[in-house]
Amino acid sequence: MADNTYTRFNDISISERILNTVFLLTIGLGYLAALANMYYTHQGLDGKAGLSVEDVVISYYGSTKQTRLGTAVTGIMKTNLKIKSDQDVILKWIHSGASETAYNDDIAPILNRDCVMCHTPSINPSLPNLTNYEGVSEVAKPGGVTIPTLVRVSHIHLFGIAFILFFIGRIFLLCEINVYVKRIAVVIPFAAMLLDVVSWFITKSIPEFAYVVILSGALMGISMGMQILLSIYQMWFFTALVHK
Ligand code: HEC
Repeated sequence: MADNTYTRFNDISISERILNTVFLLTIGLGYLAALANMYYTHQGLDGKAGLSVEDVVISYYGSTKQTRLGTAVTGIMKTNLKIKSDQDVILKWIHSGASETAYNDDIAPILNRDCVMCHTPSINPSLPNLTNYEGVSEVAKPGGVTIPTLVRVSHIHLFGIAFILFFIGRIFLLCEINVYVKRIAVVIPFAAMLLDVVSWFITKSIPEFAYVVILSGALMGISMGMQILLSIYQMWFFTALVHK
């Protein structure tokens, strides 16, 4: 081989091609299993079967429909409300963002009348403190994923997938295609993965970023899949098979 030529699928032995192929097929299968896993852990969070943007929003950002306060006033604590319509007042406050001004105007009077006789730290330290805004907003938050969980999942994700993409990329580099296309193509799955992980964190605060999570995740899958398929195709059907 001359100095200015690079290894291509033509140059590698059949044994290497077999090894590459079983590796790529296994990774492809693993990716399909990962997709199925993602489907089962996220689908139906919004109460509807199937995976939707809303499910992704609930996973990362949380849902104002599933706060502890909202669940309490529509469930076990409902009977403590002396005026039934106050339930709607509380739910509307939660859905509109649980601001402190609205708390002082509309919510504190209700809670002081119906709830604080039990929900005061000096009386029941184990119950949510409903005597001030800090305590109440604690149970009125949409929830969603916690930062420690996101940090844990993202470091596993980044380390694991970087290895996978690196080895897929190494094999893909043996393809016979335009060199500029190739240079860009090896970067795309990495960039998409990084964008995906960054947008998990952003979606925790800005629910609209769920779209970026989905699109970047899809881009990573598609670009990785194309590298795998093109590699397998060129390895066996495109290059003139030289038996080494
Ligand atoms: C008679 C005492 C009493 C009153 C009055 C009362 N609560 Fe409670 N509350 C409790 C007890 C006891 C629990 C714990 C129940 C449990 O964990 O099963 C609780 C739990 C809660 C929780 C936590 C539920 C969770 O996610 O674990 C919330 C929120 C709550 N109450 C809100 C309210 C609101 C709002 C009111 C007023 C409308 C109210 N409570 C009135 C006794 C009371």
